[in-house]
Amino acid sequence: MLRWDGSLQRIGLLLLLVATGAYLWWNIAMVDDGEEPAALRRDTFIPLSMAVTQPIPKNIQFDTAKVDLGRELFNDVRLSVDDTISCASCHVLSKGGTDGMVHSIGVNGGEGGINAPTILNSAFNFTQFWDGRAANLEDQMDGPVNHPKEMGSSWSKILAKLHDDKHYLEAFSKVYPDGFMVANIKDAIATYERSLITPNSRFDSYLRGDQQAISEQEEIGFKKFQLYGCSTCHQGVNLGGNMYERMGLMDDYFGDRGNITEADYGRYNITHKESDRYYFRVPSLRNVARTAPYFHDGRTARLRDAVEIMAKYQLGREIPRADADAIVAFLHTLDGEYEGSEP
Ligand code: HEC
Ligand code: HEC
Repeated sequence: MLRWDGSLQRIGLLLLLVATGAYLWWNIAMVDDGEEPAALRRDTFIPLSMAVTQPIPKNIQFDTAKVDLGRELFNDVRLSVDDTISCASCHVLSKGGTDGMVHSIGVNGGEGGINAPTILNSAFNFTQFWDGRAANLEDQMDGPVNHPKEMGSSWSKILAKLHDDKHYLEAFSKVYPDGFMVANIKDAIATYERSLITPNSRFDSYLRGDQQAISEQEEIGFKKFQLYGCSTCHQGVNLGGNMYERMGLMDDYFGDRGNITEADYGRYNITHKESDRYYFRVPSLRNVARTAPYFHDGRTARLRDAVEIMAKYQLGREIPRADADAIVAFLHTLDGEYEGSEP
């Protein structure tokens, strides 16, 4: 006899898995047919798992006094040793929260060894930096502040410098009971960073049910993005930022590119485990059309190339031109708004 608590449930689950598997196989087989990219139409039903992605929340409330203080500090060049560089020098809101360069330039013209990621929506990433070496935004700041090629300073130098500024002393004592100190400076900047989120993208309107918010080609692009398996890595509210993956999972990215540097080792630099070599935190794809050049090495400024590189090295395949175009079109729907308009 089959009983509800055990075997029946398991058989049900098995049937469901087999059905889902067959369905996905059928779709992927369809996509595989490079000659017929138009086989997928707008109304082709693809079950959107809520695990794939969610819209950016619209109404997160922040302590505006802290946000204002954080914004001021973020733009204050006195955080650098020679008063030339602020956080905003390398994270420019109007450039999608990046600096648009392959490598950033810090104090004394120092060139960094890795591409600057966007700070937009960074609060949704599960760790900070390409290799995830900082657990949160507060810890992340120790990096640029002390880095000899970024700000070349230290918290004690910053504290000493800003202590002469009556404005900060007064503003901090209003907002923080324990006044002007490093932990509160970090808290203010991190609060500002948490406010740098970009809701209201066309894609989010689509996720919320407005099918007309994106075009037919963009919608097909989103479906292909799932069917090809991009969303196995780029998922969650940021379409990225919630796992580490190997760059060159299916093909030898670094061998083909050449000139391997220490920055290319990724998580290996933190854990020193061979199995972590070339692993990076999967980057967010929110606002990706605005954050060129792409990849930790700033390899290409063309989104189209980035998609093809991903197909080759992460999925081990070439994808037909029409599919790559559709995916690029979909990626453009991820441009969001900061405080109601384009950042
Ligand atoms: C000279 C350029 C430069 C300056 C100045 C700079 N950054 Fe960055 N920022 C970078 C680069 C490059 C990275 C990536 C480094 C890495 O992953 O190893 C980065 C990474 C980050 C990240 C992680 C984002 C993510 O997705 O992982 C945050 C957050 C951030 N910076 C905030 C700040 C703040 C706050 C300041 C000021 C205190 C600052 N940055 C100053 C270049 C800069
Ligand atoms: C196996 C996991 C995985 C899969 C599958 C995957 N990606 Fe990625 N993606 C990554 C990782 C890891 C990076 C960062 C690599 C680096 O910088 O070296 C990345 C980077 C990117 C970037 C550059 C983002 C930036 O800001 O620099 C884009 C664009 C991108 N992926 C799109 C896609 C698309 C489109 C697909 C499907 C065709 C896809 N990815 C499939 C893991 C994956």
